[in-house]
Amino acid sequence: MPDLSPRPGDLEPIETASRDEIAGLQHTRLAWTLRHAYENVPHYRQAFDAAGVHPDDFRTLSDLAKFPFTTKHDLRANYPFGMFAVPQEKVARVHASSGTTGRPTVVGYTQRDLEVWADVVARSIRASGGRAGMKVHVAYGYGLFTGGLGAHYGAERLGCTVIPMSGGMTERQVQLLQDFAPDIIMVTPSYMLAILDEFRARGIDPRTTSLKVGIFGAEPWTDAMRGEIEDAFAMHAVDIYGLSEVMGPGVANECVETKDGLHIWEDHFYPEVIDPETGAVLPDGEKGELVFTSLSKEAMPVVRYRTRDLTRLLPGTARSMRRMEKITGRSDDMLIVRGVNLFPTQVEEQVLRCPGLSGHYLIELTREGRMDEVTVHVEARPDHNDAAERASTAALLCHHVKEIVGVTVRVAVADPGKLERSAGKARRVIDRRPKT
Ligand code: DLL
Repeated sequence: MPDLSPRPGDLEPIETASRDEIAGLQHTRLAWTLRHAYENVPHYRQAFDAAGVHPDDFRTLSDLAKFPFTTKHDLRANYPFGMFAVPQEKVARVHASSGTTGRPTVVGYTQRDLEVWADVVARSIRASGGRAGMKVHVAYGYGLFTGGLGAHYGAERLGCTVIPMSGGMTERQVQLLQDFAPDIIMVTPSYMLAILDEFRARGIDPRTTSLKVGIFGAEPWTDAMRGEIEDAFAMHAVDIYGLSEVMGPGVANECVETKDGLHIWEDHFYPEVIDPETGAVLPDGEKGELVFTSLSKEAMPVVRYRTRDLTRLLPGTARSMRRMEKITGRSDDMLIVRGVNLFPTQVEEQVLRCPGLSGHYLIELTREGRMDEVTVHVEARPDHNDAAERASTAALLCHHVKEIVGVTVRVAVADPGKLERSAGKARRVIDRRPKT
């Protein structure tokens, strides 16, 4: 794989600044954000007043813990534009995240917010190994979802040639990857697997593409999946994280030279990790729920937004800014099966340990009598079609899941191409248990 480490002079000064310098900037920006939110968003004024805190109470970074959390519920309760801190004519764009039920969560950006967003995505693409002049194929969906447009303007900002493909039309994706010869693809990891299948179905060796880097995010994925994709395409696979409420993609990104977790762009997003039960702030290194306060956002500042994503904060390595460990799941995705906690990514890791299986999977929950049953649906690789071999692969996966995760599951091995494909975020769980 090509060496895409940054060259001297590539990085912005803040990426290698001292911790003191970063903390000083965060302090100034947090003080501004708290005041901006309090003075311009009725929700924050009420919430701060109810908690008995005022922006003047913020004196050191640790004072942030005195301020109340913000949740998705708060955003929904102020649907659509109630969380905006600027008049509507200053809002240059809105995005929305769909969610599975009810109202979407709406977010807004001023022109300056859009500039900052493009800057942090440009920084993320550069951390992934991108440079001006490279071609970037964007297969995240364009529209209300932040993935497509977020990636698009960041790639333009870096000076890349953007191919705004959006998600879907898998055959066309493969054709353009062949004909336009991009250096970088930005897409969900699950959709990359669907693109991989299409390469194979056409008899094209994916290792012969021009791709040097894939920048994957918008859903949890494992190091096992990284190995699968890197090996299949002979390219780097790098993790990008973000969420609409905080900005969109580009809140944190891995560096291609280390691939050791995602550096949080701490000059614009202030992270905390809390105990999800008590709300107490945990020291760096301990695992809990990730919480963000925006540091520069004008249109929709967020104060201590609870992401529900589970991770821990680690010291900087390739950059001075702290890292977050690769996210293995959201608290919402955790299944409790016969008393054992189970994240879909734990199943993903075990699926990819079985040589006969591709990376597609779906976890189905049913109830029989009083017992919850878990069926893991997986797909055989195209050359794995002998019934006896498939049965032993199913037994192997059962064994791995039982041994590593501690849950007994059934395994159903389907023919290649039989499981549902998504052009964006994959659905990993289907819950058919009766609602109680
Ligand atoms: O998914 C923004 C995005 C687009 C990020 C493209 C990266 C690439 P939302 O639709 O608001 O925004 O969903 C945000 O997706 O809270 C996580 O649960 C999950 N997520 C995003 N990136 C990652 C990642 C976009 N790299 C929610 N690893 C977040 C794990 C991720 N989960």
